[in-house]
Amino acid sequence: MLPDVTLRATSSTDPGRGVWARDHFDRWYDALAAAEAVDRPDPSTWRRGELRALLERGTADERMDVVLAEVGGDVVGVADVRCGLTDNRHVALVHVAVPPAHRGRGVGTRLLAAALEVAAAQGRTTVRVRVDRPADREPQSWPGSVAAARWGFGAGLLTARRQLHLPPDADLLAALAAGAAPYAAGYGVRAYAGPVPEADLDEMARLTARMSTDAPNGDLAVEPEHWDAERIREVEAVRAAQGRHQWVAVAQDPQGRLVAYTVLVRSDHEPERLLQLDTLVLAEHRGHRLGTLVKLACLRRALADNPAAQRVSTWNAVSNGPMVAVNEALGFVLDEFLEELEAPRERVVQTLRDQTLRNRT
Ligand SMILES: CC(C)(COP(=O)(O)OP(=O)(O)OC[C@H]1O[C@@H](n2cnc3c(N)ncnc32)[C@H](O)[C@@H]1OP(=O)(O)O)[C@@H](O)C(=O)NCCC(=O)NCCS
Repeated sequence: MLPDVTLRATSSTDPGRGVWARDHFDRWYDALAAAEAVDRPDPSTWRRGELRALLERGTADERMDVVLAEVGGDVVGVADVRCGLTDNRHVALVHVAVPPAHRGRGVGTRLLAAALEVAAAQGRTTVRVRVDRPADREPQSWPGSVAAARWGFGAGLLTARRQLHLPPDADLLAALAAGAAPYAAGYGVRAYAGPVPEADLDEMARLTARMSTDAPNGDLAVEPEHWDAERIREVEAVRAAQGRHQWVAVAQDPQGRLVAYTVLVRSDHEPERLLQLDTLVLAEHRGHRLGTLVKLACLRRALADNPAAQRVSTWNAVSNGPMVAVNEALGFVLDEFLEELEAPRERVVQTLRDQTLRNRT
């Protein structure tokens, strides 16, 4: 039976968030990290300093709410709710995490109910959750997957995490580059560290918007995103506040227009891991091995600046055959799945209500 739970919450738009962070952020993060690490050899939970920066700095693109659940002064679980402010304003991204010692007592359900209230207050009609699951574990016995199903979350997108252990096989990379070059005659590829050059900004915004429409979204209800130069700069400013550095590679067509790009980041809070973010080749320029070439160029540029990095982590929709093939050719190996699951907010509220009634009778 769930004892009396005290909830403490703040958000990235709350003027009091600095005081909240001073008093509670470390306890909030410790509980998150403990819950995320259960039975996962390499959890890719965002680091303490990265999440703290998101909460304290705030971003123009997204509001983040955080909730801490306490019983008798001990933290028993945490939640966060992310609501996009620029587009996809129908959806709230909810994450609930309960450290192992406090599971199975209804804490997760209580935090989900609190998160649903935040979603309602932000006018969100769809709620999306995510579950990270080792590739060798079945959803039927993985706590996050079981709970998500129990709470009524259904159709969504199944993504695989693959990792490339560093240093890469230099001969393999050279062979891939040589094999791809004849397909890309007339195209140019360049890679750089740091912010997008001013001259590329508008074109990068155009390519970035295509990520939301051209990459597989499965059964998730995703609206096309609107990107402009200002939004690219805001993302870069947030990254800098989080201690993240970026490397970018772009491909240009014979007329000099940008037609493909890829981004890697590395955080000062986790120097051993490079994170592979967006990769996109415009549909009308596919088949020229530009995906392979921009990835190779970006990886080489980032590795030159980060010789001590130990691995690169990448996430692709399981259905994204071409991207998975490029990554496997580079030597990436599958180790986790990421399930993103959605449900109408009202339906989850009703599911929790029904479960409460059933538990009482
Ligand atoms: C998912 C998680 C938050 C559940 O926390 P919790 O405090 O155990 O949640 P609750 O006690 O409210 O239980 C919720 C449901 O989880 C399932 N569950 C809980 N404990 C379980 C156990 N020991 N074995 C199997 N299923 C269990 C049940 O379906 C339960 O619902 P029910 O009791 O009505 O049948 C927790 O396992 C966790 O932190 N996992 C890692 C983070 C994660 O994956 N979060 C995303 C969830 S969508």
